[in-house]
Amino acid sequence: MKAIVIDGYGGADRLQLREVPDPQPQADEVLVRVRAAGVNPADWKIREGQVRLFLRLRFPHVLGSDIAGEVAAIGAGVSQFKLGDAVVAFTDPRRGGGYAELAVAKEAAAALKPASLSFAEAASLPIAACTALQALRDLGKLSEGGGVLINGGAGGVGHFAIQIAKALGATTTAACGPANVAFVQSLGADVVIDYSKEDFTRRAERYDVIFDAAGKSSFAACRHLLTPGGTYVSTLPSLDLVLWGGVLWIVGMFGEAKHARPFIARPNGEDLAFLGRLADEGRLRPTVSRTYPLERAREAQGASRTGHTRGKIVLEV
Ligand SMILES: NC(=O)c1ccc[n+]([C@@H]2O[C@H](COP(=O)([O-])OP(=O)(O)OC[C@H]3O[C@@H](n4cnc5c(N)ncnc54)[C@H](OP(=O)(O)O)[C@@H]3O)[C@@H](O)[C@H]2O)c1
Repeated sequence: MKAIVIDGYGGADRLQLREVPDPQPQADEVLVRVRAAGVNPADWKIREGQVRLFLRLRFPHVLGSDIAGEVAAIGAGVSQFKLGDAVVAFTDPRRGGGYAELAVAKEAAAALKPASLSFAEAASLPIAACTALQALRDLGKLSEGGGVLINGGAGGVGHFAIQIAKALGATTTAACGPANVAFVQSLGADVVIDYSKEDFTRRAERYDVIFDAAGKSSFAACRHLLTPGGTYVSTLPSLDLVLWGGVLWIVGMFGEAKHARPFIARPNGEDLAFLGRLADEGRLRPTVSRTYPLERAREAQGASRTGHTRGKIVLEV
């Protein structure tokens, strides 16, 4: 099969289109004929070796965590899917494999593709939409009537977060750059802050959850904006956030405390199925702002690396 392969950490020139052996599904895994693969900032951070302390790659390595396509083979014990099913899935975080014609996913990290979404739209869901869901619902405990501030509302994670917060019944404030104000409004945000004109940390409002989808703020700068017992979640895990989390946990043993939560996304097929139901009910719509053919993965990662993606970038295979 054809795949985008890297032979070591480095720049975009490491991304090479090559013929490689087809992957084989093991027990509890499905082999997917990939029709589309999502591009995430994690892909180029991994390629550049930025996270090599936590994620050591074996080379040659095929990048890519988010896939949508058709089931081409199933391993022993797979019961939820059959040959030909249209699915959306996470690949294994250590093995990657999404930028390819065929990729393997654990059955537990896959779901049927939502009927209302194209393959490209479905492939934009796994990391970004599950991050938004898990951060808001599971860590933030955001629920009906709550208030949330989302920083970075226009990006892959942020544009899903706004729609998920609305689906959870929350009042939603979102911050974004000047070029994205109308876009973020169109996603359903109740209040939109243009970060080039206003520093959201100076606002008088208080929020039950602050979700920094872009990872551009800090707990120290935001904590006064939280309601008592409120939660700050950031996509950028930092030592500062871990230390604050520990301090606040101790404070919480003596009374009500605010919470500071670093975040790492969990591959989860049930969450993908939940997001698929929201999509089919018309409450979640991925915005795929750019698509590239597989062989133009360098350009796709270059576009992601600007840090100003609107919605998602997807490779079509
Ligand atoms: N920990 C985890 O498990 C996890 C999971 C997913 C993502 N992440 C991380 O989360 C970050 C966002 O991911 P993504 O997929 O949403 O990235 P993305 O699609 O590239 O979006 C980034 C967004 O950040 C916004 N932004 C840039 N500068 C900003 C600023 N100063 N203030 C507020 N917003 C700003 C941009 O919007 P404007 O153009 O409007 O500025 C852009 O839309 C990345 O660092 C990614 O690696 C972590």
